[in-house]
Amino acid sequence: MNKGLAAVILAAGKGTRMKSALPKVLHPICGQPMLYYPLDAAQKAGFKQLKVVVGHRAEQVTEAFPDKDLTWINQTEQLGTGHALMCAAESLRGYSGPLLLHCGDVPLLRPETLEQLKSYHSQQQAAVTVLTAQMPNPHGYGRIIRDGEQILEIVEEKDASEEQRQVTEINAGTYLFDADFVLSALKGLNKNNSQGEYYLTDIVAAAVAAGKKTRALCVEDPTEVMGINDRCQLAEAEVLMRWKINADLMFGGVSMVDPTTVYIDNGVEIGSDTTLHPNVHLLGKTSIGKNCIVETGVVVVDSDVAEGSHLKAGSAIEESSIGVNCKVGPMAHIRPGTILTGNNKIGNFVETKKSVLGNKSQASHLTYIGDSEVGENVNFGCGTITCNYDGVNKHKTTVEDDVFVGSDCQFVAPVTIGRNSLIAAGSTITKDVPADSLALSRTEQKIIEGWRLRKQKKS
Ligand code: UD1
Ligand code: CA
Repeated sequence: MNKGLAAVILAAGKGTRMKSALPKVLHPICGQPMLYYPLDAAQKAGFKQLKVVVGHRAEQVTEAFPDKDLTWINQTEQLGTGHALMCAAESLRGYSGPLLLHCGDVPLLRPETLEQLKSYHSQQQAAVTVLTAQMPNPHGYGRIIRDGEQILEIVEEKDASEEQRQVTEINAGTYLFDADFVLSALKGLNKNNSQGEYYLTDIVAAAVAAGKKTRALCVEDPTEVMGINDRCQLAEAEVLMRWKINADLMFGGVSMVDPTTVYIDNGVEIGSDTTLHPNVHLLGKTSIGKNCIVETGVVVVDSDVAEGSHLKAGSAIEESSIGVNCKVGPMAHIRPGTILTGNNKIGNFVETKKSVLGNKSQASHLTYIGDSEVGENVNFGCGTITCNYDGVNKHKTTVEDDVFVGSDCQFVAPVTIGRNSLIAAGSTITKDVPADSLALSRTEQKIIEGWRLRKQKKS
């Protein structure tokens, strides 16, 4: 068995109220599946052995976390939270000390709160310490029945008396147990309740009966322990998490004109003195450097944008790298595999894909650059198109340094344009162009004088 404190995370439930083919714990919140957050919080709070109980679509859940160091436990039939822990008992054999039990559908709980629970539990030397909250509307949660500091029992909503339902202190579903005690007490759980399930919450009364100490730690902010059961709660949790992400970034020196309309995934990094305008989406593994401006309607996915760059309104950037001091957009589409080396200008209605543009190269208007290697100081005129696809294969266009391309040119790939050459406007380039030359391929202009007048007289 590996070393470190152990935690069991429950994630076997179907999440019926989500009305979804996707398991509840895989619904995304700020770019990560819901279950990511409880796992992350437990790890950050020092629980190194994580045992995750899965059942409903177990394989799909497991596959969503390929790189985490986790032990997966199968609960083939979901007979309740107590039963879920029974399923994990085998893998905890020989473990003693504090055991965390946390739920996969409680994404907002902070690692700091788990740390607090851990120290309170050990300081009190309790057998069970329950995380609780005061909920203005406690409907649906288990209620905490106290005798001073000692918790006598947890009563589920469905089993509670009218009087017990008035209690506003609720069970968050997160506990610290003395492992030896809970693993032996589990054997005494039964299904004599309104839902016919093994309730983990019955452990509290069992501890009291065994003469043990039971304690509760009440969180200050009840939203932290909010459980997600339906899509309204999912949206609510996302709003809260988004606000926290934005607030952290603002405290770190990022300006947001209207933070309520800025959508940033968990883990996105942004440098100081960068300004985000309304309706900006920064998603996936993305980083934005210092002193950038991101205008309204910009969507950046899995990309890095370096210091001093300006992303103008309505631009979309995916799986690309934008160097320092670039200007992109408005309405530019930077598709996967684009590398703007630095000081580049990509203007309106320009699309790039799988292409490298050297320092200071630019395409200011209405252009497609795909599968290309472009040197430094290259200027693409309005309406340049790399014809990279012949219907079967993709081909490469190479444009060397200091090339000037006139408006409305096509490069039929594979083709190479040598350095410092000039491509005349309206040319279709099908053959390589040597360095320092002029390439021009257009039919000569013909003039028939008086043609229009003669036509008009006839009719
Ligand atoms: C549970 C608590 C309740 C508490 C609430 C907090 C019990 C009996 N009740 O109720 O006191 O206020 O959480 O949110 O524990 N799960 C399994 N296997 C099962 C059953 C559940 O893994 O057989 C998992 C679910 O996937 C979920 C978590 O356990 O992640 C909680 O289960 P859920 O059915 O949502 O419990 P609640 O009714 O919310
Ligand atoms: Ca729940």
